[in-house]
Amino acid sequence: PRVAVLISGRGSNMMSLIEAAAAPGFPVEIAVVISNRPDAHGLARAQACNIPTRSLDHKAFPDRAAFDAALDAVLEEEQVTLVCLAGFMRLLTSGFTQKWAGRMINIHPALLPSFKGLHTHERALAEGVKIHGATVHFVTAEMDVGPIIMQAAVPVLEADTPDTLAARVLAQEHVIYPAALRLVAEGRARLDGARVAIDEFEI
Ligand code: GRF
Repeated sequence: PRVAVLISGRGSNMMSLIEAAAAPGFPVEIAVVISNRPDAHGLARAQACNIPTRSLDHKAFPDRAAFDAALDAVLEEEQVTLVCLAGFMRLLTSGFTQKWAGRMINIHPALLPSFKGLHTHERALAEGVKIHGATVHFVTAEMDVGPIIMQAAVPVLEADTPDTLAARVLAQEHVIYPAALRLVAEGRARLDGARVAIDEFEI
């Protein structure tokens, strides 16, 4: 598969995918990194790895549909077959998510279905949960709701701040995102209606 990684910021998850894809035998090629923010630090990091980048400034489009149409055009032009959202902070239209259904995945810094949306680490601490984590899921029209492919859990410690907890979760994101991408790329994790059909695997 030819993969597009969509980012909005620093791109540490993007880097984990680029590094995994560079290993012999990893079944994807990172074809392009696309940012909706021209100043995203991740763009420079991708360029340093010789990955083609595109920036599509969402502010230059009149509405979400126009932005998504331009995004779709770039994906087609680059012959992309799988899309990875990696800290991509734009909501996508239902038309776009339907077109890419089963071929687009996202990483979310919480154990879904808990803590959808933003500020997950602050909210986890405020709720006093003792286990937190990260989730890779197929993208559907509703944000952070799509069928779950893989999760990793971390303990919440008494002394945690949002930053220390985020760092513990992020280390696990960098493990499960490449692992989940591999499963999807090899057809071993598939969207099957409202859930994921998944073959046995080891990380
Ligand atoms: C990650 O925690 C990701 O799960 C969330 O936003 C953060 C992006 O970080 N959606 P990075 O850009 O991958 O470093």
